[in-house]
Amino acid sequence: MFSSRLPPNPVGNALSRRLAALREAGEAYVDLTESNPTRADFAYPPGLLARMADPAALVYDPHPFGLFAAREAVALDQRRRGALVDPSQVVLTASTSEAYSWLFKLLCNPGEGVLVPRPSYPLFEHLTRLEAIEAVPYDLEYHGGWEIDFESLAARATSSTRAVLVVSPNNPTGSYLNLGELDRLSAFCAARGLALLADEVFADYPLESPADIATDVASRSGALAFTLGGLSKSVGLPQLKLGWIVAGGDIRARADALRALELIADSYLSVSTPVQVAAADLLERGGAIRDVILARVRANLASLRREASQHPAVEVLQCEGGWYAVMRVPATRTEEDLVLDLLDRQRILVHPGYFFDFPREAYVVVSLLPRPEVFVDAAARMLQFASASL
Ligand SMILES: Cc1ncc(COP(=O)(O)O)c(C=O)c1O
Repeated sequence: MFSSRLPPNPVGNALSRRLAALREAGEAYVDLTESNPTRADFAYPPGLLARMADPAALVYDPHPFGLFAAREAVALDQRRRGALVDPSQVVLTASTSEAYSWLFKLLCNPGEGVLVPRPSYPLFEHLTRLEAIEAVPYDLEYHGGWEIDFESLAARATSSTRAVLVVSPNNPTGSYLNLGELDRLSAFCAARGLALLADEVFADYPLESPADIATDVASRSGALAFTLGGLSKSVGLPQLKLGWIVAGGDIRARADALRALELIADSYLSVSTPVQVAAADLLERGGAIRDVILARVRANLASLRREASQHPAVEVLQCEGGWYAVMRVPATRTEEDLVLDLLDRQRILVHPGYFFDFPREAYVVVSLLPRPEVFVDAAARMLQFASASL
């Protein structure tokens, strides 16, 4: 009855079943996977959303790419990282997920594919499948820092490949694209007529980042490129549903792409007027929230490293940016068993590496968002538990 865009059997895995049972029994646990900033006890400035009640929001004046003032505000905001963007390059969306779906509609016929990094954001599988296209993985390799395996990228590209996706910094590896990689990717895409899609939702959260990171890819790429961003991470307001695409790269290809994208955007007109009216104010005032989130993420990463230094069997991988930390732990049992045991015996929830398609075991991933006092205690117990399983 339902289309093949949906997975054949959407049943949960062992971890989701165990979690559902715990919740049903009213059992508490520490959630080290929490990535919703509005549930992480940040003090949002009072009156932050006041502009959304502006009488200007009572007028419905639909534009496919959004109200000019809001697009201008997004373009201006890119200057914080030194990118010069014209408002005409900005397309507003309700979320990054929607931005992906519009770009996939723009670039791919059903059955065609996009190259996606591995390990990375698990939602790619669904986002591509829902557009009737295929996510084809290329590898990221860890050699004391993460880097793109360009051999695997070239080997996986076929005549039905339409785009290369990068996430910078990546979820969960935290790795930013660097300038050398951007040059190679941009040349790779230009030579094959592919578009480059850069998900930079975490770009404002540098942690252990080197000097040569390449942000604002759309403004730096020679090939047709799109940078994706949004309020969800940049100012910690996912519930407002405002994301954006910045189109860049080759000027003629970009103009053609924007013309075609207009029809797609005009068919949805999905961004609410109140959030567009408030966009400039939110981007300006949101900087204070971003600073608080960044300070917490940095403090939690420092605590994690401090605690991990007492457990030589565990390695906290280099974490250049974002909201997550990855640990390599002894593979004395499967990731699934470790994560289930941790939940059963310590009441601590972490992500297993396989959730992000790590090529081998055993890795665990934690969010760096929880309150520091909660985080440090749970991280210490988790490290002890993972080491004791030696
Ligand atoms: C890499 C990445 N992109 C996009 C998103 C979601 O952004 P949005 O809320 O704008 O859809 C997430 C959320 O965790 C993410 O990790």
